[in-house]
Amino acid sequence: MIWTALIIIQVLLALFLIVTNRSRSKEEPPLDKGFVPWLGHAIDFGKDAATFLTRMKSKHGKIFTVRVAGLYVTVLLDPNSYDSIIKDSTSFDFTRYAHVLMKRIFNLHFPQHNPETEKAMMRQHFQDKSLITLNRVMQKNLQALLMSEVCENKRNWKNDSLFSLCYSLLFRAGYLTLFGDEPEENGNISISKEIFQEFRKFDALLTKMARTTLKTNEKKVASTVKERLWDLLSQNKLNSKMNPSSWLESYRRYLTAQGVDQKMQQRAMLLQLWATQGNVGPAAFWMLAFLLTNPEAMTAVKNEFHKLTAEVNRTCKVQTVRPEMLEKTPVFDSALNETLRLTAAPFITREVLQTKTIRLADGREYKLRKGDRICLFPYLSPQMDPEIHQEPKKFKHDRFLNADGTEKKDFFKDGKKLKYYTMPWGAGKNVCVGRSFAISSIKQFIFMVLTCLDIRLCDPGSPMPDIDAGRYGFGMLQPQGDLEIQYKLKSHL
Ligand code: HEM
Repeated sequence: MIWTALIIIQVLLALFLIVTNRSRSKEEPPLDKGFVPWLGHAIDFGKDAATFLTRMKSKHGKIFTVRVAGLYVTVLLDPNSYDSIIKDSTSFDFTRYAHVLMKRIFNLHFPQHNPETEKAMMRQHFQDKSLITLNRVMQKNLQALLMSEVCENKRNWKNDSLFSLCYSLLFRAGYLTLFGDEPEENGNISISKEIFQEFRKFDALLTKMARTTLKTNEKKVASTVKERLWDLLSQNKLNSKMNPSSWLESYRRYLTAQGVDQKMQQRAMLLQLWATQGNVGPAAFWMLAFLLTNPEAMTAVKNEFHKLTAEVNRTCKVQTVRPEMLEKTPVFDSALNETLRLTAAPFITREVLQTKTIRLADGREYKLRKGDRICLFPYLSPQMDPEIHQEPKKFKHDRFLNADGTEKKDFFKDGKKLKYYTMPWGAGKNVCVGRSFAISSIKQFIFMVLTCLDIRLCDPGSPMPDIDAGRYGFGMLQPQGDLEIQYKLKSHL
């Protein structure tokens, strides 16, 4: 009996290996399966994708296929060829993989999910007049939260950790702006703080949820924290809020009209909370951290802000910063672009819907198999590509500025002018819908910090913190550890 069972298991195993194994045909990209059956390169990929893909690139070139936990992922690292994927939404699909992640991370299952309608709705509420309103509310919320941080002993230096401070203030202000105010006095401060604390626990486990690598105790934490966040974002709680954004109201009406039940609606709210608030705080952190560790860049950005405020007055009443003033900031814009070049590291992943031969910019052709995934990683190229950006690891605040102070857009690779020389917002049909709101939120926040506060590193020699290498592929990177700072309200305020 035991022998029969063993033989059956061996036969099944052999069949499994035959079915899941594959070899490269000559029209396909180089194939690297790794040594571990089925798992392939999953561990290295998850541990530090940038290091792993750099190694694969030097071994195989700008296109190759790797096996990752039973899947075959073709990685393309040539920005001159990105349009062959980005522009072909018939062969390469964004939605299926997005559904997998929605289920794994948010336990969300939408039978009638229509991403195009949702995106069109969001686009409409994040542009023109609606964007102006959002920016005004965001400014008010940022100001109130920042002042609540400095109000005690505001003339004395206060010690804090920069990442926690930036993430907390921007997340909470963004949440209040989009989801609405609390009805009771001071509720904005305390409820937004509670949501943020829970969200940080959720965010810390996000990459493991996406890769399904949570340990048993982490699964328990993830489940508890999600329950708590779902409750905080439940219909009853949201109904009692005041002044929610026009986008949130439309989105909730849309979900109801689609017949999405209450349970799924609160899960959708958590997805939206993450999509709208998960990247802005980390981006603002990196920018302030680069400015604090690069005095020349800090002076350049501060001088630009001073010129803007000189004609008005020097109070910290942020209402005095009119929106049009924040459009005239080429130095700031270049420094932000440079920050995002160094720290925005999303994967642009698509599922191959039909077997397809793509043509790269150098004329070579490669066949991609139906059912595989294709992944672009702009962080490695163009963003950290030494041929495009000299000394790519160095923060140069004026990298995206021409000598005459206009925005620099001319960058080259293989002698060709690049369309994609930095891609923090993705590209094509799936480019970030919240980009303008994200940029103005970061700008308002940094403007406020630099004009209202004296801020300095606790240790003037502190280096930039290392990157948490497990987060490559998930939007904005986060630091390993933090940067200790001190701040106080400026003496004239
Ligand atoms: C620094 C902040 C942000 C960064 C770096 C960022 C980056 C990105 C990237 C790279 C994508 C494309 C993903 C892909 O093609 O696979 C994306 C998509 C998206 N972003 Fe952002 N984002 C930021 C802030 C925001 C904000 C504030 C909002 C909303 C208010 C937002 C809403 C969205 C939405 C809805 C999508 C999905 C678009 C689609 O389905 O095609 N993002 N974002």
